[in-house]
Amino acid sequence: MASHRSRRGRKASRDKHPKPYKIVPSLLSADFTRLGEQLAQVERAGADRVQVDVMDGHFVPPITMGPLIVEAVRRCTRLPVEAHLMVEHPERQIEAFLEAGTELVIVHWEAAVHLHRIVDSIQSRGARAGVALNPATPAAALEEILPRLDLVLVMTVDPGYAGQAFLEGTLPKVKRVREMIERLNPDCELEVDGGIDAETAPRAARAGADVFVAASAIFQHPQGIEAGLRTLRQSLPQAL
Ligand code: DX5
Repeated sequence: MASHRSRRGRKASRDKHPKPYKIVPSLLSADFTRLGEQLAQVERAGADRVQVDVMDGHFVPPITMGPLIVEAVRRCTRLPVEAHLMVEHPERQIEAFLEAGTELVIVHWEAAVHLHRIVDSIQSRGARAGVALNPATPAAALEEILPRLDLVLVMTVDPGYAGQAFLEGTLPKVKRVREMIERLNPDCELEVDGGIDAETAPRAARAGADVFVAASAIFQHPQGIEAGLRTLRQSLPQAL
């Protein structure tokens, strides 16, 4: 009963106020010679948290960042850090990322064999847990784990590289995941990542996304980082 009431309360407040969208710059396109400065800019521009893209050279071809980068980021900004683990055997990496101060750990459904155990190990340490789905993985794969999650990440490109074109076919999946979230776990965030810019973000928002990760559209914006973030935020619908 309580959860029924709070669900209705949430809906009423959504209808009255602009939807509280979150924007999450992905450090993959940052200039690492000036990371502190760039983090200060995204913080000033109103970013909600930052994403560290962790790639292991196996689950995806490139090798990128690890817990050392999370520690460095934490020393430069008050923004929460999420780690998107694009790695095989994510369970082996979780402890190090939590130790480094990661607030939200996202593992790939395709890389995780024992998802309940992984989600428990993250949440029992006081962090939040998310699961990412590759574009070809059906929304239905989430059904059993969704009630336990803090976030679902619908990848809108195959992970591995910044600057790829948004895959249109992922929009109906965002809609399906939104329906599942409303039914099974309305507090769960629905994040999209890959090819997100001022043209694709509002379409993903209308399909049901509420968190938007972007690398190129923010760090490579011709007018600079702050303009990139502002443009992205202004592109989002003001009310649903
Ligand atoms: C994809 C990464 C994304 C990527 C997004 O493998 O998880 O975060 O950096 O880059 P853009 O926003 O340039 O598509």
